[in-house]
Amino acid sequence: MTAGRAPAIRVQGLEKAYKKLKVLRGVDFDVARGSIFALLGSNGAGKTTVVNILATLLRADAGTASVNGFDVAAEGADVRGSISLTGQFAAVDEILTGRENLVLVARLRRLKDPGRIADDLLARFSLTDAAARRVATYSGGMRRRLDIAMSLVGNPPVIFLDEPTTGLDPQARIEVWDAVRELAGRGTTVLLTTQYLDEAEHLADRIAILHQGRIIVNGTLAELRELLPPAEVEYVEKQPTLEDVFFAIVGDTGDKDTPGKDAHDPRGAAATPPQDR
Ligand SMILES: Nc1ncnc2c1ncn2[C@@H]1O[C@H](COP(=O)(O)OP(=O)(O)OP(=O)(O)O)[C@@H](O)[C@H]1O
Ligand SMILES: [Mg+2]
Repeated sequence: MTAGRAPAIRVQGLEKAYKKLKVLRGVDFDVARGSIFALLGSNGAGKTTVVNILATLLRADAGTASVNGFDVAAEGADVRGSISLTGQFAAVDEILTGRENLVLVARLRRLKDPGRIADDLLARFSLTDAAARRVATYSGGMRRRLDIAMSLVGNPPVIFLDEPTTGLDPQARIEVWDAVRELAGRGTTVLLTTQYLDEAEHLADRIAILHQGRIIVNGTLAELRELLPPAEVEYVEKQPTLEDVFFAIVGDTGDKDTPGKDAHDPRGAAATPPQDR
């Protein structure tokens, strides 16, 4: 199997314990190149532990894992050269402006023309208008977008997003989802962790559920739905969800942090299935 054809991420028999607490008890999954893979699990299920092992921040007790064809234990430097990690808590510098944060990362990565790289990413993440403002003045959604933008400096083929939308309002979540979809559309492999079922449903090509140390299901949304008995036809009055109500009220003015950007049509967004699936 050539590196180009191997899955972007391959995890086999991964085990990890913190002292007596066995968090991972034999985790297996593959992530195809250019796809979005969602690792679902409740608090403490071990999602961050998996991501940290794949990002070479933590060593597994047993099992193997490779990223972009490189073994995480034996070829850590090559793995680190292939990935970026956007951790569970935003890692942006508050004192710097959004643009300065991006230029800093581009300089650290020794890339040519850091200013142009920063400006391109600011545009892609609808942050151009806020580029010259200190990050301390950004909303949570803007910080998250900047954080993801920073992880894209240098175009890593694989990116890990650990709970990219936890704590964001519905509008900001949709903006992050759009950004993630755009990434995968460009061929980047995305592994994201989430506790939100709807996030996995909206975004992911494949969804795996981590529970009691193992992957208990792994499939496309359609495959996961087939695990349940066929739907029965019932006639019920459909009540709007709280999200429908939220968007009906704030939808037209909800794009508060990106002046100049077209307001989202939330109903359209909710009704449109993700592209290419
Ligand atoms: N460094 C550590 N030392 C001891 N226990 C740890 C350590 N890191 C994580 N744990 C424990 O391992 C378990 C899994 O943690 P992990 O952070 O991987 O879960 P998670 O699925 O990311 O949870 P969350 O959704 O809350 O982020 C938890 O019970 C946690 O308390
Ligand atoms: Mg976590």
